[in-house]
Amino acid sequence: MNYAEAEKMLKGCGQEHVLAYWKKLGKKEREALLKQIATIEPKNVKYCREALAKGADVPDSSKGKAPKVAVLKGAALKKAVEAGEAELRAGRVAALLVAGGQGSRLGYDGPKGCFEIGPISNEPLFYFHARKILARSIRYGATIPFYVMTSEANNAATVQCFEENEYFGLDPKDVFFFTQGMWPGMTKEGKIILDEPGHVFMSPDGHGGLLAALKKSGALADMKKRGIKSVFFFQVDNPLVEIADPAFIGYHVQQKSEYSLKLCAKRDPFEKVGVPMQFGKSFRMVEYTEMTEEQCKRTTKDGKLYFLYGSPAIHVFDRAFLDREASKAMPLHLAFKKIPTVGADGKVVKPTEPNGYKFEKFIFDILPNAKTAAFLAFDQKDEFSPVKNAEGGDSPATCREDMQAKWRKWLAAAGVDVKPGVPVEIDPVYALDAEELASVGICL
Ligand code: UD1
Repeated sequence: MNYAEAEKMLKGCGQEHVLAYWKKLGKKEREALLKQIATIEPKNVKYCREALAKGADVPDSSKGKAPKVAVLKGAALKKAVEAGEAELRAGRVAALLVAGGQGSRLGYDGPKGCFEIGPISNEPLFYFHARKILARSIRYGATIPFYVMTSEANNAATVQCFEENEYFGLDPKDVFFFTQGMWPGMTKEGKIILDEPGHVFMSPDGHGGLLAALKKSGALADMKKRGIKSVFFFQVDNPLVEIADPAFIGYHVQQKSEYSLKLCAKRDPFEKVGVPMQFGKSFRMVEYTEMTEEQCKRTTKDGKLYFLYGSPAIHVFDRAFLDREASKAMPLHLAFKKIPTVGADGKVVKPTEPNGYKFEKFIFDILPNAKTAAFLAFDQKDEFSPVKNAEGGDSPATCREDMQAKWRKWLAAAGVDVKPGVPVEIDPVYALDAEELASVGICL
């Protein structure tokens, strides 16, 4: 893109001020600014301005009902597992990880997936995800391609982490990195913010940016070429997740679902997790911030929470559903933040109060568009212990404790009594579950 093209595009969407300091910029700064402008799509600028004009789109959750959630046991569980295993053996399952977030609450600088979590090995979060995918592929004799969404800020470091660790044993041709989009920040008036005279303030477009990025990068086409039908989605911060778990995949297939969600009982009424609700025939994820206190505390006759189940963001999507949704516009969520700006004198000002908006898309906003959805309960202790905060709940310390509690349970089932305080760790490729651990045996 050259200056004339940039000017024309910006004028077309009322953003010509982005070039206000052009004359003061050096050659390199000019090139970098043009490169940034080329990534801004006029239709997205228009869309952001419309979202600003409309204000935050917080739908009324008061009419929401708790959806029916399946708890699989006995013969039903066995059948679901068999259906999932058939899907895995046929090579129709992919793993999809969103790892573009910034990990600011954890206070960790690099990609969150590089955060060392192994209680003994200090292996990073990516290790546990990749080794589980490898173990599952070996078990079912079919590749599970691994699609990893990164952001501009962490893509290079993520790829480097995989390379340095020889892809944790996976075949590099089955690991597909793709980068989510960045959207410009705006003032209340819908003007794009420059955080330096030659630089537009841009931020990642949220995990919902996944759909556009899957399509643009060719990842969706790659899935289609490989014959993928079920796409297992998970977040980077939870090393307990049972990736491509046959019961969940099988239940999704049995229900002919387009979008399936694993749910777990909330640990307390105000736990900071999204809660799926039913509105007529469709479903929608209601974020904890959108629920009233009454909804959070509401109980059934037997004293259980009415909105008992929260979402740990473990989903299975039908690949064709993702394809269909990828060309649609998704709702935007607005975050009012302190964003550095350039003053009239060309100097950078750091605001003390929020002054501009970031725009994000959330993947679960496509839930109402699913023709069929399915909800499956599981035990939080077994599969959900995210690393979100540096200390306290959902921290590296609680996560390592939960990882070890799970492994200790497996060891106990295999007849090995581990003394309290003795650290334990099991490579997923050595044993993916308690049954496998018991069958391969333990060398002490
Ligand atoms: C999220 C969910 C919440 C769910 C909880 C479970 C939202 C708004 N809320 O909360 O419903 O119960 O997880 O742990 O998502 N990411 C990107 N790109 C981005 C932003 C995030 O790839 O632009 C990725 C992160 O790397 C991470 C995941 O999305 O893997 C979740 O992001 P995070 O900001 O940690 O979500 P939470 O607010 O914790």
